[in-house]
Amino acid sequence: MKSTIFKFTILIAAFGITITACQRWSAAPPEWTSAEITLLQTLWLSSLPELSPDASNAVADNPRAASFGRQLFFDTRLSANGAISCATCHQQERRFTDGLQKAQAIGTTARHTPSIAGSAYSPWQFWDGRRDSQWSQALAPLEDKNEHATNRAQVVSLITQDGTYRSQYESLFGPLPDEKEPDPFLLNVAFANIGKSIAAFERTIMPTASRFDEYVQALVDADAEQQRKLFSDDEVWGLRLFIGEANCMQCHNGPLFTNHEFHNTGVISFPGDVPDKARVSGVQEVLANEFNCKGPYSDDPELRCDELDFARTGPDLIGAFKTPSLRNLENTAPFMHKGQLATIADVLQHYNEAPDSMIGHNEAKPLGLGSRELSQLESFLGTLAAPVTGCDSHATR
Ligand code: HEC
Ligand code: HEC
Repeated sequence: MKSTIFKFTILIAAFGITITACQRWSAAPPEWTSAEITLLQTLWLSSLPELSPDASNAVADNPRAASFGRQLFFDTRLSANGAISCATCHQQERRFTDGLQKAQAIGTTARHTPSIAGSAYSPWQFWDGRRDSQWSQALAPLEDKNEHATNRAQVVSLITQDGTYRSQYESLFGPLPDEKEPDPFLLNVAFANIGKSIAAFERTIMPTASRFDEYVQALVDADAEQQRKLFSDDEVWGLRLFIGEANCMQCHNGPLFTNHEFHNTGVISFPGDVPDKARVSGVQEVLANEFNCKGPYSDDPELRCDELDFARTGPDLIGAFKTPSLRNLENTAPFMHKGQLATIADVLQHYNEAPDSMIGHNEAKPLGLGSRELSQLESFLGTLAAPVTGCDSHATR
């Protein structure tokens, strides 16, 4: 009898908690405090500083280099089979992703295609940060056997033989190396210059203001009517969870919703895939890369390479991937480094459970949110959708 009463009490208590929780998430959200508004302003696109110059790339902000780089980005002749360009996998209509789990070109890549939008702000490129600039990154897919599968000599030869490319190149960088007997160092210089032009184009691919950014503007303006027009109650509750209980801002912070750091969030590998060591291998690779910030192909005479000098490694970075931006998630499914999770709802479910990592330690803690709260978080993430720049016009070949 005693135990029945006890169970009954627990049942009532649980019921009570459920009612409070439901009331809490379905009621009109409270006003934002000024401290919260200040916090929200750190996520605002208007807080994004101007892109700092890249001293290692003398043409980083040269519009002629960007135009040359854009032509190269879409040119399928820069591949072994004449059918692959950067845009095969980084498709503008999908926010520069491809809709696949692992990317496919001449072969299948080990990981999922990330967006390029805003990645010029990141000190590290690739999911494991194995390159330290966009220009050195751009050289990797050209020679990757699963991607463009070409090589530096063929790429430089194409530029030399195509009259319009040749004149664009030479007006930016001076004469191309002798085609018949290229000096290996000069060949590398030319190859690096091609990467630097592509990077100049990529620096123009940026997110634009979303409904979330307009909402923050309305908060700053204390315009309640505009706030109600812009955000539903569910979206406001979702944002409250994002900056509060769901702890997303631990890693997805700043105007691009990323700290540009590496974290293990326990995303499981596909059966048959060896668990990915990620950042721990990426650090070794970037330090050894001939095109890194300290290498002979940097344009910075002072070789200022703080990021590389202070690159962190250690056991806590086993299985740690670069935090992706959360702007423009629409049209970019599937998600995570191998596209393991098909939908945003799956991603949120993953965070809610925070399973043990197969390798290293999952830094995220289980959230224990209800389905209503998860859907509110999802609604909020939808408010970050907006077009990206750099897509309007391009030369296709
Ligand atoms: C076969 C598809 C494919 C092609 C072709 C391709 N990429 Fe990628 N790209 C990927 C994949 C997959 C990754 C992530 C790989 C990894 O992290 O291990 C990636 C990563 C990147 C990144 C890093 C973004 C970030 O935030 O870390 C940039 C920038 C990029 N690619 C630009 C380019 C450029 C420029 C070209 C053409 C020279 C190109 N890609 C060609 C699939 C492709
Ligand atoms: C400990 C750091 C950390 C926390 C906390 C965190 N994330 Fe992430 N997030 C990451 C990393 C790292 C990845 C990439 C993981 C991978 O690919 O294996 C990621 C990936 C994602 C993606 C997939 C994006 C894409 O383009 O593939 C979404 C969506 C996302 N997180 C949303 C959230 C939300 C919402 C929260 C809060 C509930 C959250 N994250 C909490 C670090 C974190």
